[in-house]
This record gives sequence, structure tokens and C-alpha cells, in this order.
Amino acid sequence: MYKIPKILQKADWYQKWGASGDIRPYVFVRPDNRIGQPGTRHRLNWFPMDPVIYNPLDLETLNFAEQIYFIEERAFGPSNMAMPRWVFYDCAVIPGFVGGFAMRNSALPEAVRQVMTRTTELEWTPLSLFIIIPTMAKGQWVAHNLCAINSLLPEQERFYGLGFLSKAFSLWYANVESCLGMTQWGNPALKLHSHYGPMEIFTAYTPVHSHAKTITYRVDVDTHCWEQFFTREPDLAFLEKYGPAGFQIDPKDEQSMISLQKKIESGSGPYYLSSADIASKKLTEALDVYRLKES
Ligand SMILES: CC(C)(COP(=O)(O)OP(=O)(O)OC[C@H]1O[C@@H](n2cnc3c(N)ncnc32)[C@H](O)[C@@H]1OP(=O)(O)O)[C@@H](O)C(=O)NCCC(=O)NCCS
Repeated sequence: MYKIPKILQKADWYQKWGASGDIRPYVFVRPDNRIGQPGTRHRLNWFPMDPVIYNPLDLETLNFAEQIYFIEERAFGPSNMAMPRWVFYDCAVIPGFVGGFAMRNSALPEAVRQVMTRTTELEWTPLSLFIIIPTMAKGQWVAHNLCAINSLLPEQERFYGLGFLSKAFSLWYANVESCLGMTQWGNPALKLHSHYGPMEIFTAYTPVHSHAKTITYRVDVDTHCWEQFFTREPDLAFLEKYGPAGFQIDPKDEQSMISLQKKIESGSGPYYLSSADIASKKLTEALDVYRLKES
């Protein structure tokens, strides 16, 4: 049995199947890209078990990849952003790191079996996907994709915190210092992405992307604030360092994105979002923008 920290008790599935070893993090990374000394940069006791490690270049792991595609296609298909197979291979498998959680086939609950209509020849079935790719800037990675089977399951069958823990595991395991990422204003994933460290708004309006209303964020990974995703306690360290900038960004108002983007370009930033603010609001509500307090 593995000891899962109490702080993760809201993730009851992890308390149960993580402890028994029937759910484990997985690493789907080609051998040359494996992390030399995983989990040594950030102190964290959330992942006491060894991950399942598969090599995506081995033919026998193709079925694992197929199941990743299966979840991904259903998660992103409705927003027309499903990942073409060549993107997964060229932009993730070859340059980067693919991770998430997997469940032992023999332990899969009925609700998951019904969603994952494919059977696997391997012992493990993926439940989530997170991709990070190193960038040319030293220490900076980019989060390229995050999805979880939760978006396909009825509410009562969901694995609370699966998406959050999938990203947490990979940032911890791969010793990521700084992580950029892209999502669309109003996307529920902002509720997750804002919990890995202070979330700097790197771009507020991004017409060079296929969706102009995309935020690019940058996070200096700080595991001290991760547990607030589960506890919902106020992030006092954030409030001590950052204060309201005096204006908001509205996910329904393109003009507010353009206006903030111009402020960023003029060098008056950097600007940040507060995870507590995002957590307490509806996805469509305007968010307070923060900046460093004067010292
Ligand atoms: C976004 C996604 C990865 C979240 O993963 P998840 O495992 O469902 O979420 P977690 O259980 O880790 O997190 C739960 C929190 O996120 C919120 N959340 C997740 N999906 C949500 C949704 N569709 N609408 C509103 N809130 C949502 C939950 O309300 C919860 O917050 P709460 O405790 O305040 O209620 C998953 O829903 C998904 O695959 N979505 C489709 C693909 C996508 O949009 N990916 C993000 C691209 S940047």
C-alpha cells in the first residue's frame, strides 16, 4: 500500500486506487528524453509510487497511444482543437514529455469501461494526458495539452482533481522551473492552471493563435501553493506580494483583452491573475488583474 497524503483527501479515487497501486502516474516518453533525476527539484510527497513507464516508439505501446487519442479527441473535438496524430508525434513524443494517470485494466470501474470502448492489450489504460515541451529559453517549458477522462464521465463517476494532479505530477517529475501555457479566456482549465505558482499574463490577446481570445500564461512553479487547489485556503503569500492593478479582464469582452495586451507591450507589467479569484468566480465573470506591490 502507498501512503497518499491527507491533503489530497478530496481526490478520493487517489486515496483508494493510488494507495492500492491500481492507479499510477504514467510517463510516455522516448528513452532519450527520460528525466535523469525525476522529482528532485521540488519537495513533494504526493506521488510515492513508481510511475508506469512506456516507450511511445515501441509498437507494443500503440494501443496506449490510441487510448490517449481517444480521450483527447473527445475532450477537444467539440472546440475543434483535437490534436492531429502528427502533432502528437512531432510536437510531443519526439521533443517533449507526455504524462498523466493510468489505471490497471482489471480495476477499471464500469463507467470508465463504457466510455473507453476500446480494449487494451497492455496492463494499463490512460485516464488523462498532459504534454510539456522544453523551449529554447533556459528552464522554460510549454504546456501543450491537458485533458482528463472526467470531461467524458457522468458527474458522480468523476475523479476529482485528475486533471490538476496530472499536470502536478508531470511538473514535479520533470523538475520544471518555469512553465508557459495557452488557454482560452473562460476555459475551465484556468481554474487548474492558476494553482501551480503565481500566474503571469504573458499575452492577454493572441491573434497569431487560431483563437485570438487566448491567454498565454507563465508560471514559476512553486509547490507551496499547490495544496490550495484542494483546501481553498487563501493564498497569503500571493496577497503579500501582489496587489490589485485597478482593472479587470473580462472573458466576454475582447476589448478588455486588447487593452491589457497593449499595457503588457508598453512594459507597464508584469500582470498576474489570482487563483483564489478565479476559483471563486464563474467562468464568464470578469477577473481582477494583479501586479507586484511597490516595495
Ligand atoms: C479542463 C480539464 C483538463 C479539467 O480536468 P478535470 O480532471 O475535469 O478537473 P479537476 O478535477 O482536476 O479540477 C476540478 C476543478 O476544475 C473545475 N472544472 C473542471 N472542468 C470544468 C468545467 N467544464 N466547467 C467548470 N469548471 C470545471 C471544477 O469545477 C473543479 O473546481 P471546483 O473544485 O472549484 O469545483 C478537463 O475538463 C478536460 O479534459 N477538458 C477538455 C479539454 C480542455 O479544455 N483542456 C484544457 C485546455 S487548456
